[in-house]
Amino acid sequence: MSETLSPLDEAGIRGAVAEAQTAFTAATTHEELKAARAAHIGDSAPITLANAQIRHLEKKDKPTAGKLLGAARKEIMAAFNAATERVDAAELERALATETVDVTVPVSAAPRGARHPLTTLANDIEDFFISMGWDIAEGPEIEHEWFNFDSLNFGPDHPARQMQDTFYVQGVETVGAKEGHGEPGAPTSSLEETEHLVLRTHTSPVQSRSLLSRGVPLYIACPGKVFRTDALDATHTPVFHQVEALAVDEGLTMAHLKGTLDHFARTMFGPDAKTRLRPSYFPFTEPSAEMDLWFPQKAGGPGWIEWGGCGMVNPAVLANNGIDPTRYTGFAFGMGIERTLMLRNSIADMRDMVEGDVRFSTQFGTTGRGI
Ligand code: PHE
Repeated sequence: MSETLSPLDEAGIRGAVAEAQTAFTAATTHEELKAARAAHIGDSAPITLANAQIRHLEKKDKPTAGKLLGAARKEIMAAFNAATERVDAAELERALATETVDVTVPVSAAPRGARHPLTTLANDIEDFFISMGWDIAEGPEIEHEWFNFDSLNFGPDHPARQMQDTFYVQGVETVGAKEGHGEPGAPTSSLEETEHLVLRTHTSPVQSRSLLSRGVPLYIACPGKVFRTDALDATHTPVFHQVEALAVDEGLTMAHLKGTLDHFARTMFGPDAKTRLRPSYFPFTEPSAEMDLWFPQKAGGPGWIEWGGCGMVNPAVLANNGIDPTRYTGFAFGMGIERTLMLRNSIADMRDMVEGDVRFSTQFGTTGRGI
């Protein structure tokens, strides 16, 4: 800094103001602004130093000097404030431009998993039955032949027992039964524990286990894995899921069966869905029916499509499981959960559901439960 500016040097003061204005106008960053501020407003700035000289002036000159420097300071501060605003805005603009997120850049974060839609559908199905006050029952996947077939009135020569449908199990020491051990009519001691075991071919053995362990009145549903010796293709898989429903009480009729099926169809497929029954045969129901489903959103247009099997519990099954068939009647139905998901979500290929590609599951939402 050269000579100290006199507080009465009007031209010099105006010059200092002009210099300060130029410096602030030229500043484009906060750093430059800070330096200009130190030079023109700081302790050693010409105006500040001149201000400090006022007290050495003669009394008569003090007001003039005070006015001059006060006005100068005001102008300099205005220039500084304007520059600060401008630089703030420019820096923000720069930050926004340089810190833009490119959403197309691939990320290396570990991908999130997703609940499988079969799991969420099975949960929804359980919720449906629980909402009617029914219980959820379970049974083992490695099942005794007696529960899978005999107790359900399959004759010894029934074709479903043949090797082409059923996986027989060897060398397993215990049956992982969760319910119904030691009940009347169960496997006799003459059978080896490791013999006559199958991978259950349907969830219907849980009918027998529940009748034996829980008694009547009985209202249970059982979603679970079942196994058949099918090759994997677009419409078959050797491991799939069914849901079994069984109600046994006094006075139950086919009207209760039909009403429950329609209610289930509406819950799963929307308020316009309905069911119809076609005569059929299962050893464990009499009469038996194939159950068809109608719903407006069916792939290929609204129409009837087979959804599951059902019927009135065969009195022989009640008797096999210790229930008096002259007093109690019941109805049962069962359907594939994969099939239900395929119908509901128009999935054309069964393999999509078993291959474990997370991209399949995420289409249904990572944790979602809705349709
Ligand atoms: N268990 C039968 C099947 O696997 C379905 C069914 C269940 C039929 C209950 C009638 C009653 O095809």
